[in-house]
Amino acid sequence: MLCLLGAALAQDYSWSGGPGRVDPVDICLIDKSSCGCCLMRRVMSRMEMMFNRTHAELQDHLQKSQNAILHRLTSRSAFSAAFSDTPICVGPYRQDVTIRYRHIFVNLNDRYNNSTGVFTAPRSGVYNLALTAYNDAGAGGRLAICIRLSINGVQQASLMESNLHDREDSTSVNLAVSLLAGDRVSVTLIAGCYLCDDSRHRNIFSGFLLFD
Ligand SMILES: *[C@@H]1O[C@H](CO)[C@@H](O)[C@H](O)[C@H]1NC(C)=O
Ligand SMILES: *[C@@H]1O[C@H](CO)[C@@H](O)[C@H](O)[C@H]1NC(C)=O
Ligand SMILES: *[C@@H]1O[C@H](CO)[C@@H](O)[C@H](O)[C@H]1NC(C)=O
Repeated sequence: MLCLLGAALAQDYSWSGGPGRVDPVDICLIDKSSCGCCLMRRVMSRMEMMFNRTHAELQDHLQKSQNAILHRLTSRSAFSAAFSDTPICVGPYRQDVTIRYRHIFVNLNDRYNNSTGVFTAPRSGVYNLALTAYNDAGAGGRLAICIRLSINGVQQASLMESNLHDREDSTSVNLAVSLLAGDRVSVTLIAGCYLCDDSRHRNIFSGFLLFD
C-alpha cells in the first residue's frame, strides 16, 4: 500500500527527507519495526498538508464568491417615483428647479434621494432612464410642459409640449445611458413651465441598471 501511495503522490511528494531528517531508508536499516510506521506517518503528514492547502484555497474562493454576491445585492439598482399623490400643479417658476418626485413605487438601497430628487448611480453600467410629464391647462396653468433630464447637471434629453389647441398634454422619453458609479441623474422643470399631477400618477421618473 505504501508503494501505491508513493506512486500516486510521486509528483508532489518525494520520498527523500529534507535536511536534518532521517531518511526512512536509514531507519529501515537501523530499526525494521519502526520502518513502516515512520513511512506511514510521513505520508500522512504530507497528505494533511495537502488537504489543509486545498481547504484553505476553497475557503478563499468561497469568501471571494460571497463578497461578490454581497456586492451585487447591495448595489442592485432600480427606482421609480411619481410626482404627487394629491392634485397639484406647480409652476411657473422664475428659474429652473429640480423636480422632487414624492410618491415612491420602488427605491432599492435608497439611491433615489426623495428630498433632493437626485438618483446617484451605485455602480458603473448601462442604465435605463424613463420620464413622463403631464400638464393640464384646465387646472389653471398655461399648457406648457418643458422638463429636462440631466446627468451631473448636463442635459441628456428635453421634453417639450406646448400648444393652445387642447387642454391636456403629455410627453415622455426613454433612454439607455452609460453611467459611472456616483453619476447623478435628475429632472428639471424649466423656468416658465408647468406640471400637474394627482393620484393617477401622470409624471413618473424611473431608472434601473440594465448591465454592468
Ligand atoms: C492542518 O490544519 C489543522 C487545523 O487548522 C492544524 O491543526 C494542523 O496542524 C494542520 N496540519 C498541517 C500538516 O499543516
Ligand atoms: C439626501 O440628500 C440630503 C441632502 O444632500 C442628505 O442630507 C441626505 O442624507 C440624503 N438622503 C439619503 C437617504 O442619502
Ligand atoms: C424618503 O427617504 C427617506 C430616507 O431614505 C425614507 O425614510 C422615507 O420613507 C422616504 N419617503 C418616502 C415617501 O418614500
